Amino acid sequence: MIRIKIISTDDPRTIETEPGNSLLEILRNHGLNIYAPCGGKGKCGKCMVTVSGEGNAMACSLFPVKDIEVILPGKDIANILVHQTEFLENIPFKSRTSFIGDNPYGVAIDIGTTTVVLYFLNMLSGRIEKVASFMNPQNIYGADIISRITYCQENENGLKDLRQVIINSINTDLDRFRLIKGISSDSFERIIVAGNTTMLHLLMGEDPVSIALAPFTPRFTGMQVRKGDSSGLNINPLADLITLPCISAYVGADIVAGLAVIKPVYRNYLFIDIGTNGEMALVKGDRIFTCATAAGPAFEGASLSCGSGAVTGAVSSFKSPDEYSVIGNAEPAGICGSGIADIIAYLLDTGLVDKSGVLKLPFTIHQKNNIIVTQQDIREIQLAKSAIYSGIRVLMKTAGMNFNDIDALYLAGGFGNYINIRSAVRIGLLPAELQGKIFPVGNSAGMGALQFLKSDEFEERVDEVMRRSEYIELSDSDDFTIEFVMNMDFN
Ligand code: FES
Repeated sequence: MIRIKIISTDDPRTIETEPGNSLLEILRNHGLNIYAPCGGKGKCGKCMVTVSGEGNAMACSLFPVKDIEVILPGKDIANILVHQTEFLENIPFKSRTSFIGDNPYGVAIDIGTTTVVLYFLNMLSGRIEKVASFMNPQNIYGADIISRITYCQENENGLKDLRQVIINSINTDLDRFRLIKGISSDSFERIIVAGNTTMLHLLMGEDPVSIALAPFTPRFTGMQVRKGDSSGLNINPLADLITLPCISAYVGADIVAGLAVIKPVYRNYLFIDIGTNGEMALVKGDRIFTCATAAGPAFEGASLSCGSGAVTGAVSSFKSPDEYSVIGNAEPAGICGSGIADIIAYLLDTGLVDKSGVLKLPFTIHQKNNIIVTQQDIREIQLAKSAIYSGIRVLMKTAGMNFNDIDALYLAGGFGNYINIRSAVRIGLLPAELQGKIFPVGNSAGMGALQFLKSDEFEERVDEVMRRSEYIELSDSDDFTIEFVMNMDFN
């Protein structure tokens, strides 16, 4: 038996365990979650802890064989997007005619790979009484969809672990709300969930492995309905837990909800959610062409040398080495997606990076904390931006459109909201031809789920999106391969 003394600001304790597991596994087994974007494969270097008297070590690669004292990193507060924007519908509340109990509440949930948002709706008054959010706790098993699926594949209890952490976190927020309101868990009568296809599989306890293997066939794409008593959630046993429908393995209910909630102002527009997978749709009149491109985790910071999520300490915008902002006004501890886009735009403008992506000199943002941008970081961003831009090009080619035909480009999600549009265009992530027509729309997935909760009539809009949508598989598209190579350089 060995003893591991944990020094942490919020949960100091001593763990007794047998040797054999990695420190990351030991911490997880005791409910201590450390950010591990590569899922504990020793590749990302982000699971760093300090071992007293020995220095820094990656928790996933350290297999303690004697008593040690470990200092855990501080907890991050996510910058989570919850607000409504002018581009999204806010449809009138329409009360249902019957309820299970006297005090009915509904909850709309957007489960993102990185963040989770809950909207609590009083189902009698139609009032949103609370919006809650938290970082997706599954990030301790990997930052992106593929590492989480791999975790399910490689671990006997993988699916159970991933399902349980998200259920536990949602239950924590449900319990918090009901305690504040003085209501019982039976009051939660209807739960509507949007999210990408993998997140919905994990929530429903369905094996997601086929999502990662050709021909990429998920266990389900249609709307799923479960009763409360088999949901794992602290809700009324007779409640309905409903997940919105997905289009394919990589174009999920988050996109469907977003497309359904966009105000129908324009006939022809692009709708893009940039995450580890760039999910995108091109609306051309009555038709909707969709695809997903594997942008990788660069814009979420996971594959960059000093990358970080949009959390306290992250460089989030950058004009010059003397003028940049850090989330929480803290000392820089990393660089998040919006920050790296600004930095590379600056390096291109100043000639420190050439069109082919060669970084002429190493670039330091903060000497003391060793926050730097490396040549490899630039390459990671080139791959990610080319994947997104090439996806757009293939959609347009398939639809027979050119940029003049596009009325607007809507950017969904947190990254789309925080990124500087000029930088996104400068690095070639978004088309320069559409500058002036690019609009962040906020958390469209969450707002779509909320509209579904507010009125049964919204279901018709969701069905219509499903009817109009066509999916284009890029993994076997020669057009995409050619575009991907052609768009790797900067302009
Ligand atoms: S290196 Fe340890 S989780 Fe990635």
